[in-house]
Amino acid sequence: MALSRGGAASSSPSGREHLPIPKVRESSFLGDDMEPVPPQSPGEGELRQRRGCGARRTACDTRRRMLKGEAVALKHPKSSRGHSDDLAVAPLFGLETRTIPRHELPRDELSPEVAYQIIHDELMLDGNARLNVATFVTTWMEPQVEKLMAECIDKNMIDKDEYPQTAELESRCVAMLSRLWHAPEAEVATGCSTTGSSEAAMLGGLALKRRWQRRRAAAGEPTGRPNLVMGINVQVCWEKFANYWDVEMRLVPMEGDRFHLSPEEAVARCDENTIGVVAVLGSTFDGSYEPVKEICEALDAFQAETGLDVPVHVDGASGAFVAPFIDPDLAWDFRLPRVASINASGHKYGLVYPGVGWVVWRNPEALPEDLIFWVNYLGDNMPTFALNFSRPGAQVVAQYYNFLRLGFGGYRRVQGYARDVATRLSGRIAELGPFELLTKGDELAVFAFKLRNKVDNFTVFDVSNAMRERGWQLPAYSFPKNREDLAALRVVVRRGFTHDLADLLVSDLERQLPRLQKQPAPVHDAANTSGFHH
Ligand SMILES: Cc1ncc(COP(=O)(O)O)c(C=O)c1O
Repeated sequence: MALSRGGAASSSPSGREHLPIPKVRESSFLGDDMEPVPPQSPGEGELRQRRGCGARRTACDTRRRMLKGEAVALKHPKSSRGHSDDLAVAPLFGLETRTIPRHELPRDELSPEVAYQIIHDELMLDGNARLNVATFVTTWMEPQVEKLMAECIDKNMIDKDEYPQTAELESRCVAMLSRLWHAPEAEVATGCSTTGSSEAAMLGGLALKRRWQRRRAAAGEPTGRPNLVMGINVQVCWEKFANYWDVEMRLVPMEGDRFHLSPEEAVARCDENTIGVVAVLGSTFDGSYEPVKEICEALDAFQAETGLDVPVHVDGASGAFVAPFIDPDLAWDFRLPRVASINASGHKYGLVYPGVGWVVWRNPEALPEDLIFWVNYLGDNMPTFALNFSRPGAQVVAQYYNFLRLGFGGYRRVQGYARDVATRLSGRIAELGPFELLTKGDELAVFAFKLRNKVDNFTVFDVSNAMRERGWQLPAYSFPKNREDLAALRVVVRRGFTHDLADLLVSDLERQLPRLQKQPAPVHDAANTSGFHH
């Protein structure tokens, strides 16, 4: 089964199944059939220079065009001296008549240059990641780490025998995270890297389920109906976990201004079949922290009353890389005895390009031994607890680079700056008039805002679409049960999003608002706008 939205069923907007191949001059890379390139005819600029009216004439032209109110690019008067105004461009492509199939394997090879150019050109249509305020995932890293990642591009994380130093860097990262998250036995740090928080959440959830099953089986109790309690705001990975591993999801709906899990509502859904409670540090919907400490305290009281000991998994996909640095006094981690495991996305506020997550358990006992596989195919007998087998090693190396390069102080500065940008930006958006903040960006550097109730001629989906015209991906989405009436926009501020970019975003919002305010009725709603996935 291939999970793909493309494939033969979909076709290009043009309906063509074949991609026209750009014209390629085969001789330029195949080495045979070399044809001499015809000499270039002199360009207009060069002719003018030959006639002795070079830089001065260009300056006059420029001035005349400026006076006529035309846009001109300012350039140094001497910049074209001695050169043609026209750049000689090698006619690289020359195979216009050929096509390649769009949805089936081409019959034969292409040259690397042609293959590269075709794909490169098609990918120009992808969005500009730096203008994407929808994603939590890192879109900027330092050039030095790109070099390091390129050096590690062939390393397979599973192959710990062939790449023992990459494996060593992974262990050091787990040890650093265990300490950062206050594991009581950090010297026997128990955890691993994953492809992201989704896989890490699956592993955390599986450990909860297995521990519960063992406990129940030992007491002679049935183990067939496990459930997991969480807020309805959880990321889709928890729905996947529940679905793939047959665990009932007990979802706490939103209510009024409560957009995430509360201690009372969590406890109200716990019983003897509850394998755990998931608390999210940094809700995907609005960037708010769930009250992990209060949830743990409520579960302490529940245990005192019922004898049921319900562990907590913290989904710190974003917050586990934020709170330790800029909210050091917030107790959300292994300082709370009830927290059994924590997941985080290295590729979100861990500041690494996509492809790395982490899961850490409080101590070795929290990860049942029978979930670990020992494999010896690769040379040595290695433990593995993962859904994938092979996995790129470069991202783990990049995570270690960040730890080494930034240290605690560097992470504090990066996350602190992101929060400054988010809170200032949310304040400016609130001042524009039509918007009302749901959150301010003072927990995760993420905030959500809605339209004031009196605005009825345009929607948040119209705002999102209008911002796309300027290249911004500013997502609009509707809220789940019991706030289906609410639709909001959300901004994620990440490393690389500066105060300057934030000002540009506000200017573009200001530029689009008059047009939206004049439109007679809403145009876009949740159904007819392009999708956004949490
Ligand atoms: C709270 C939360 N958990 C889990 C995930 C899934 O993370 P990943 O994309 O690393 O698999 C996300 C992603 O946004 C998230 O925000």
